[in-house]
Amino acid sequence: MTGAAFPPRVFSGIQPSGNLHLGNYLGALKRFAEAQDRGVETLYCMVDLHAVTVWQDPADLRRATRELAAGFLASGLDPARSILFNQSQVAEHTQLAWVFNCVARMGWLQRMTQFKDKAGKNAQNASLGLFAYPALMAADILAYHATHVPVGEDQKQHIELTRNIAIKFNTDFAVDFFPVPEPVIEGTGTRVMSLRDGEKKMSKSDVSDMSRINLTDDADTIARKIRRAKTDPEPLPSEAKGLKDRPEARNLVNIYAALADLSVDAVMQEWGGRPFSEFKPQLADLAVEQLGPISAEMARLMQDVTEIDRILGDGADRARAIAAPILRRTYDIMGMVGPREV
Ligand code: AMP
Ligand code: TRP
Repeated sequence: MTGAAFPPRVFSGIQPSGNLHLGNYLGALKRFAEAQDRGVETLYCMVDLHAVTVWQDPADLRRATRELAAGFLASGLDPARSILFNQSQVAEHTQLAWVFNCVARMGWLQRMTQFKDKAGKNAQNASLGLFAYPALMAADILAYHATHVPVGEDQKQHIELTRNIAIKFNTDFAVDFFPVPEPVIEGTGTRVMSLRDGEKKMSKSDVSDMSRINLTDDADTIARKIRRAKTDPEPLPSEAKGLKDRPEARNLVNIYAALADLSVDAVMQEWGGRPFSEFKPQLADLAVEQLGPISAEMARLMQDVTEIDRILGDGADRARAIAAPILRRTYDIMGMVGPREV
């Protein structure tokens, strides 16, 4: 049902909740820039309405939204070629989310593992928004008839739900109106693990700052975190399969491969048999070389929030121009009286 009728369009979103790290860069931002550079139409959204499904301090949210925008720009996202905006400026997201609240079934949302994780033991006390979160996410994507959604592994279930919503809407109203979008989950950077524990994802919520490399870390901090990263005493294996039961070693090799744009096999060919005491300094140099300019550019951009706000406002105008007719058409299909399709 995806049909050739829908031209390729990429959409993805990130929550502005502070502490952008290497996992966000390799798993999301870098790949977002690659999609843009391939010339596909790309929309990237700072999903502030998703962030407030749990309480946010207003000043922190404002800062995190601008810092995330700075992170996008510093990672090579070009506001002339990608539409960059924050979600709350485009009302069509919440309007379409309401429609999808009526399409999605309670049972579908009850199966979402992210809700179960985030709500914890006290699900009765979670916000209604946290429960409905994936329907808003479906609206983010489908308001633009997006066909491809680059995300990390953890978001796969939400994309599956988005697909089910698109299919159910199309079936319920006997139309072929919404595309059934594809998740794009690929590459060595899709799961960057903690530097302290190779079985845990690198995460902004980890209490140990040594577990992650923040995009705002300076060169010395990056180098120190890599030097101290957990490893085992063995030298690097000469084949990728030798990394199987060595999560920390595998993580460092994956990070190296993703930063250097090499395959894991190519890294093994170069480094197989050599000790981590030689590998780590090289990895640190590579990380500093790639991340140093990003953190410097983020700091520079954050000195002029007026310019960041202007870019987000302009992106929102362009986003709205795509989403408004799609929302109007959705309402028409459902029988809502209104102006003729614009
Ligand atoms: P989050 O920081 O969880 O809000 O995620 C923002 C984006 O970064 C999503 O596309 C995630 O899939 C991606 N991401 C977050 N953590 C990692 C990680 N450790 N490795 C790879 N990608 C990640
Ligand atoms: N739920 C995503 C996350 O936590 C963020 C997100 C919101 C998103 N809307 C989206 C991702 C639409 C892709 C497409 O990472």
